[in-house]
Amino acid sequence: MGLSQISDQWWSLFHLYNTLGWAVGIVVLGLLVYILIRYRHRPGAAEPEDAPKGGVIPSERGSAAGAILLTLIVTGILFPLTVYTISTVDLIEHPPEKGTIVVKVEGFQWGWKFTYPNGKQLVGELRIPAGEVVIFEVRSSDVFHNFGVVDFKVKADAIPGKVIKIWIDPLKTGTYLIRCFEFCGVGHPLMTAKVVVMEPREFGQWYGKR
Ligand code: CUA
Repeated sequence: MGLSQISDQWWSLFHLYNTLGWAVGIVVLGLLVYILIRYRHRPGAAEPEDAPKGGVIPSERGSAAGAILLTLIVTGILFPLTVYTISTVDLIEHPPEKGTIVVKVEGFQWGWKFTYPNGKQLVGELRIPAGEVVIFEVRSSDVFHNFGVVDFKVKADAIPGKVIKIWIDPLKTGTYLIRCFEFCGVGHPLMTAKVVVMEPREFGQWYGKR
């Protein structure tokens, strides 16, 4: 947590899905075990009165109120998840306008080239300052690749002839992994790079004038 706005939101969404998934799983498996024990076969026991019979349509059972309640519970769980998911995708796809440094990212067989606004270029390593919004313009010079900044939870296709924008706002200094997420030939597993998030002053010294 605290790595960037997007990864924080990604993780809280993940924990929410995970918690609800466990809750639903426990209820379903609990009911399954209960029913297995409650209705297990006992030697000499008679069939229960409401047991289904071959060729006979069962009489009406269940309650409308129960069905409505269950529908409301399911909707109450799924609707907020949908809204939260859409808002996370919206955050990822819409970089903020202000205070940005735009880096051109070019995928090639097999590596990543980064070009800064002042013309500086790096291959295999991306240096960015902490506490700023960094926008990536992702493209490819040969085949389909996919630019993924793993810990920051952002990915974009790198497609020849197209530019796709994604962004991160790194809050902590450190070194993080970038890798290709689209099979692009024998070098694909090796198509990695690193992001070095630097102290703003240190970055300024390396980068020079903006
Ligand atoms: Cu580039 Cu896989």
